[in-house]
Amino acid sequence: MDGVNKRRMNEKFLKTAVLASGRGSNLQALIDAWQSGELPIELVAVGSDQSEAQALSRAEAAGIASKAFPLRNYPDRFAQEEDLLAWLHGHKVELLLLAGYMRVLKTDFIREAGFPILNIHPSLLPAFPGVHAQRQAVEYGVRYSGCTVHFVDEGLDSGPIILQEVVPVLPEDTEDTLAARILEVEHRLYPEAVRLLARGRLKRQGRQVRISKA
Ligand code: GRF
Repeated sequence: MDGVNKRRMNEKFLKTAVLASGRGSNLQALIDAWQSGELPIELVAVGSDQSEAQALSRAEAAGIASKAFPLRNYPDRFAQEEDLLAWLHGHKVELLLLAGYMRVLKTDFIREAGFPILNIHPSLLPAFPGVHAQRQAVEYGVRYSGCTVHFVDEGLDSGPIILQEVVPVLPEDTEDTLAARILEVEHRLYPEAVRLLARGRLKRQGRQVRISKA
C-alpha cells in the first residue's frame, strides 16, 4: 500500500452538516467535492431556517438528510436553535459548515455544540462584515475584495481566519458582477478549508490559525 492510500485508510471521515438559508451554491460545491472523493468528510445533514431554500432540494438530490427549522414554528430563536442543535447531535455531527446561513448563531448554540463551526464570507474580513458585503465593497470603492473562510465565534463574521483569497473589484462592477466573481473563488476556497481541517492540518492559537505541511 502506498503512503497516500495508507493515509486514506487511517483518515477519519468527519460527520459534517451544512446550514444554508438560500440558493446553496456553496453547499453544491461541497457536495460535488465530497462526491468526487476530494473531501475526507461524510455529509450527513443539511439544515435551513427557510422551508423553501434551494439548498434543501440540493441536499435531497444528493441523498443527504435535510430539514427546515422555520422560526415561525418556535416561540423564539433560542427554542429554534435548541431544536436544530438536538437534530445535529442526533446525526452525530462533528463539523458544521455555514454556507449562506443568514442568522448569527447564539452563544448558547456555539458553546453547547461541541464541534467546530466554519463560515464563508464574501469579503476580506475584517472588512465588510454582515450582509451585502459585495455592495459594501463596491460602494466603498476598494480595488480588491475577496472571500474568507473562518471559524465561527460569538461575533458577526469575527472568528479566527482560516483562508482568504483576493478578488479584484473592477471600475464597472455592480454588487451582482462582483458577487459572481467572488462566488467562483468561494466554491474552491471552502472545500479547500474543509479539507485542511478534516486532515487535521489546522491548529488554532488564539486568533491565529496555523496550517501545517501535508
Ligand atoms: C455566499 O456569498 C456566502 O459567502 C455568503 O452567502 C452567500 C451564499 O451563497 N455567506 P450560496 O447560497 O452558497 O449560493
